[in-house]
Amino acid sequence: MDVPPTYLVTGAAGFIGSHLAEALLDRGAAVVGVDGFTDYYARERKERNLAALRRRERFRLIEGDLVDLPVEELIAGVSGVFHLAAQPGVRGSWGRTFSVYVRDNLLATQRLFEAAAAAGVRVVFASSSSVYGNAAAHPTREDVTPRPVSPYGVTKLCCEDLAHAYARESGLDFVALRYFTVYGPRQRPDMAIQRIASALATGARFEVYGDGTQSRDVTYVGDAVSATMAVMDRAPAGAVYNVGGGSETSLREIIRLCEELTGRALAIDAGPAAAGDVRRTSADTSRIRADVGWSPRVPLADGLARQLTEAGALQRGARGAIAAR
Ligand code: NAD
Ligand code: UGA
Repeated sequence: MDVPPTYLVTGAAGFIGSHLAEALLDRGAAVVGVDGFTDYYARERKERNLAALRRRERFRLIEGDLVDLPVEELIAGVSGVFHLAAQPGVRGSWGRTFSVYVRDNLLATQRLFEAAAAAGVRVVFASSSSVYGNAAAHPTREDVTPRPVSPYGVTKLCCEDLAHAYARESGLDFVALRYFTVYGPRQRPDMAIQRIASALATGARFEVYGDGTQSRDVTYVGDAVSATMAVMDRAPAGAVYNVGGGSETSLREIIRLCEELTGRALAIDAGPAAAGDVRRTSADTSRIRADVGWSPRVPLADGLARQLTEAGALQRGARGAIAAR
């Protein structure tokens, strides 16, 4: 009988990492999850992300910080590493908090790359559309010069540069994924769609930063996960890919769609534009389509309906008409 592969998933208690770990188990793999339960958002929420995973026989969680853990031991014997652990928010990365980004993004990643290069294990890691900043061309291809406009984006670009350096000098086998604003059930509570869904469920207010015309190429989490697994299996070493859902949508339009789906009106406050926020993102995904045959599958309205349902803003299976303001 074939022995199933074992993968290490860092950030397994997080939004994308918990979905990825479930999908790997569904494919028959074994998963060792690592998470330090950083305080960026509540542990209670991360425990909910893990609830189904903890019941799976082939899942094991190691609680700890990648900056301290013996990463060589974690990597020994695994078939591949999915490195998703990070300090993720864009807008909070200025000022004193930057030290958290340096630690959880750069130091943790450098330790992992060093160990993976020594062990000869592939690392697929989460980069970000934020490496582009306000990109010169749309849709944006991977070969434009990246110019991040947030300290968070700078740390993600540094991780990519570190990967290239380890590949050149120590033979690291890596694939970098530039995820574009991932959404869906379990989305982080600081992100726009989750805040909108929660406000629609509870009647709380939602603050729009800026005029709401900023736009994002949003990516359903199931699509992000299928891209992540596909590149572990099929991408050439050293590849960098955009992972985008293919529907660039303004924040105003996302709000309108959520209102339409739930039949509820969102109470909105206008706030100042946020430092580090880009005007628009749109992914050219021809490279990942050509190399591994991945393309996004979930239409925006379906993905939003799933997230709104999880948040309690939409009855399971129901779709409302827009309510009068
Ligand atoms: P998340 O915060 O939900 O998950 C990250 C997890 O990593 C958390 O559970 C946290 O406790 C853990 N972690 C952080 N530092 C750690 C450390 N030093 N040691 C061990 N565990 C640590 O974030 P997410 O939205 O699921 O994002 C996953 C990855 O994808 C991140 O690298 C993020 O930068 C990247 N990304 C996310 C998006 C998005 O839209 N969500 C878009 C682009 C890139
Ligand atoms: C998201 C993730 O949060 C990052 O971790 C990730 O790296 C990035 O995507 C990426 O694509 O690389 P962002 O696109 O800023 O970042 O996504 P949201 O946090 O959902 O914000 C989307 C827009 O809504 C932004 O313009 C933001 O300013 C706005 N927003 C957000 C509000 O107006 N109000 C809020 O309460 C939250």
